[in-house]
Amino acid sequence: MYYTDEQIEEVRSRNDIVDIISGYVNLKKKGNSYSACCPFHHEKTPSFHVSREKQMYHCFGCGVGGNVYTFLMEHENLSFPESVEMLAERAGIQLPQQGMDPDAKKQADERSKIKDMNKLAAGYFHYMLKTDRGAHALEYLKGRGLSDETITGFGLGFSDVYRDDLYQYLKSKGYADEELKNSGLIRFDEKNGASDQFWNRVMFPIIDTNNRVIGFGGRVMGDAKPKYINTQDTPVFDKSRNLYGLNLAKKSKRRGIIFCEGYMDVISMHQAGFDNAVASLGTALTVGQVNLVKRYTERVYLAYDSDEAGTKAALRALEIMREFEMPARVISLKPYKDPDELIREEGTKGFERRINEAISGIMFEIRILANNYNQEDPQERTGFQKEAAKRLSLILDPLERGNYVESVAKEYNISVESLKETVTKYGISGTAKVDTSVFRDRSSRKSPEEEKEQKQLKTERLLITWIINDDRLFKSLKEVLSPDDFFEPVYHDIVKTLFEQYEEQGRVMPAVVMNRFQSKEEHDKAAAIMQQDFDMEISEADKSKVITELVRSIKLRSVTHRLEEAKGDLEKTGKLLLEKAQINRIVISFL
Ligand code: CTP
Ligand code: MN
Repeated sequence: MYYTDEQIEEVRSRNDIVDIISGYVNLKKKGNSYSACCPFHHEKTPSFHVSREKQMYHCFGCGVGGNVYTFLMEHENLSFPESVEMLAERAGIQLPQQGMDPDAKKQADERSKIKDMNKLAAGYFHYMLKTDRGAHALEYLKGRGLSDETITGFGLGFSDVYRDDLYQYLKSKGYADEELKNSGLIRFDEKNGASDQFWNRVMFPIIDTNNRVIGFGGRVMGDAKPKYINTQDTPVFDKSRNLYGLNLAKKSKRRGIIFCEGYMDVISMHQAGFDNAVASLGTALTVGQVNLVKRYTERVYLAYDSDEAGTKAALRALEIMREFEMPARVISLKPYKDPDELIREEGTKGFERRINEAISGIMFEIRILANNYNQEDPQERTGFQKEAAKRLSLILDPLERGNYVESVAKEYNISVESLKETVTKYGISGTAKVDTSVFRDRSSRKSPEEEKEQKQLKTERLLITWIINDDRLFKSLKEVLSPDDFFEPVYHDIVKTLFEQYEEQGRVMPAVVMNRFQSKEEHDKAAAIMQQDFDMEISEADKSKVITELVRSIKLRSVTHRLEEAKGDLEKTGKLLLEKAQINRIVISFL
């Protein structure tokens, strides 16, 4: 913690969650709560709920949840202290600087300075493009078919041939050498001193989903090598977790996200109306990038270069998509090299047609496989069919698997029956390389202990929901139950805080409880409970019965557990046995 609990709570209480989230999401009022389509995953029906009363949000679709801080951390990619600072500023609260852990403060300052420098640099490069000195760069971009609107929209620029003009510019804005070095924009060496990293190139600012400039790509305007230079990794630029163009693609109305390889491909596609295109940043696709787009889409298209390297990259990308259960289709660009070329030759219509003709990832993989075998040779043909069957055996859904078996059989002239049989064989024996545990029934894999545990957690969860929703419960509960009786650590912490709140203020404040939890897992878990509401159409008598059962069950597990621990300690054991005997006499009554 870098700020005190009081400071954190004051800032939180002065920023209404509905106001904050409305700034990002179109909330519709429904009864006491507000709902919308979840900004953290792709969906068509709204399962994202915000409660003004509780000052919390929760998505029933993907399970995220929390208070106003969590929302900003997730949505704006901020650290906890950064989100406190942002909301403090919004509410006009002055936070004491000395309250912060010096190391954390230093890091936060450094990150924010780098983003500021990047923004200034992007402005400078863009300005240079419009001056006489940048005329040839502008001409280069126009020569590649880009309109003024596109150039401005992507904030393209030009880095001049002077060795250190950006350095001088940023110096004049007050940045120190050490800071400039961290930004990746300026290089220092003993002999020559400071010089600009980018030199005589057209510049592509790389902007994250929060619209911050995190780095740059720079292209030579001729055939010199290297063709592109990118910002090295800095505290704000992580190539594996960002995608070029996603800041725009995330707002697209088009279906899916199109992945391609290059900056110019993204820009061409956007200009042609495919504003859902993104590219990785000069590296192969990463798990972090798929995780990122998963928030915005439920399907992807691959428009990778049609050469061998592009095909390899597409196959690798499909593997990652499969791990994430993200449906992927592959767009063929042949005979053109990349999307930029295709669009220049065939325009929007041509690309639209290619999207419609895109084939599923599996059919693409099998097509590539087929090319590796001589289909005229019986032995090779059998080899191909076996490999294809292995691949098909990995499809989870039986209907889908059946359909693919039929399509493949048809396309490659194989008997449906024997292909089906071979696929089943691989499916059952698990000979296919990829994890085949997926063929076994997932639900039957739980051990009795696991089931018991799950039931226990559910019991604890239900009781917490009652505590939150019925003020009268606390008085009778505190006689018989303590937070320590709760087994799950997050639930234990919640109950402890709720009890303290009742004791001190006479009511619960769910959003305050959330301040306790720092990790995302804990946050989501806690938010899921705090946000639950009951249908109160249950008689007081039934309610008493239900709650009594819950309390007894939690107590029993807790005492049994403590008995285990007390083995050998006669005095403790005696006390606990007494407590155990009294469990059945516990009655919680509302009557
Ligand atoms: N790339 C890179 N460094 C290089 C070459 C390529 O970072 N030396 C990255 C860039 O992000 C580039 C992408 O890989 O956009 C694809 O490279 P390539 O196909 O060679 O370039 P294009 O995007 O087609 O660029 P252009 O059309 O300008 O030649
Ligand atoms: Mn190209």
